[in-house]
Amino acid sequence: MDDLTIRPAEPSDYQSVISTLDDWWGGRHMSDMLPKLFFVHFHQTSFVAEQDGKIIGFLIGFLSQTFPDQAYTHFIGIHPDHRRGGLARDLYRNFFAAVRKHGCRTVHCVTSPVNKASIAFHLRMGFSIKPGNKVIEDILVTENYDGRGGDRVLFVKSLEA
Ligand SMILES: CC(C)(COP(=O)(O)OP(=O)(O)OC[C@H]1O[C@@H](n2cnc3c(N)ncnc32)[C@H](O)[C@@H]1OP(=O)(O)O)[C@@H](O)C(=O)NCCC(=O)NCCS
Repeated sequence: MDDLTIRPAEPSDYQSVISTLDDWWGGRHMSDMLPKLFFVHFHQTSFVAEQDGKIIGFLIGFLSQTFPDQAYTHFIGIHPDHRRGGLARDLYRNFFAAVRKHGCRTVHCVTSPVNKASIAFHLRMGFSIKPGNKVIEDILVTENYDGRGGDRVLFVKSLEA
């Protein structure tokens, strides 16, 4: 891709990201799950992909305070016109390199069972699905993980070669 830059996310990127977030998720209401604090307090482990001054992808992640050898990806999204070109893989590459420097050995994330693209993508990225307590369409799911009926697929990826 021409003129593509991947750089740490800045608080000033927030408005651009949040204004298109639900559209990028196919109309699902996701924006409440991404308050600005992530762009302020997790700047070193969050990235945006910018082309011609426009944000076309982002990854919001952080280091676990509870488990110092673990990192967590909260959100990753790519503009619909820029998918399937390796951009999310590139964002993850930056994230993995950043958290490795802090001694992280595994990366964790969760996704909704309805998000088949996210499940397929994370499996292609080398994540494994953690054991759950329910099976939905052959996928192991953890029931009510996020409360209010929020079943989730739990992923883990080792950063060790
Ligand atoms: C999921 C998403 C981030 C993938 O972004 P992307 O830039 O298209 O992904 P990449 O091109 O880097 O793909 C990386 C790998 O995943 C695979 N992949 C990506 N999307 C896929 C899909 N929908 N189905 C199957 N495989 C997929 C690619 O084929 C590639 O595999 P390969 O390198 O082995 O060939 C993007 O589709 C998106 O933003 N979706 C909406 C938001 C979302 O659901 N985010 C994830 C939950 S937080």
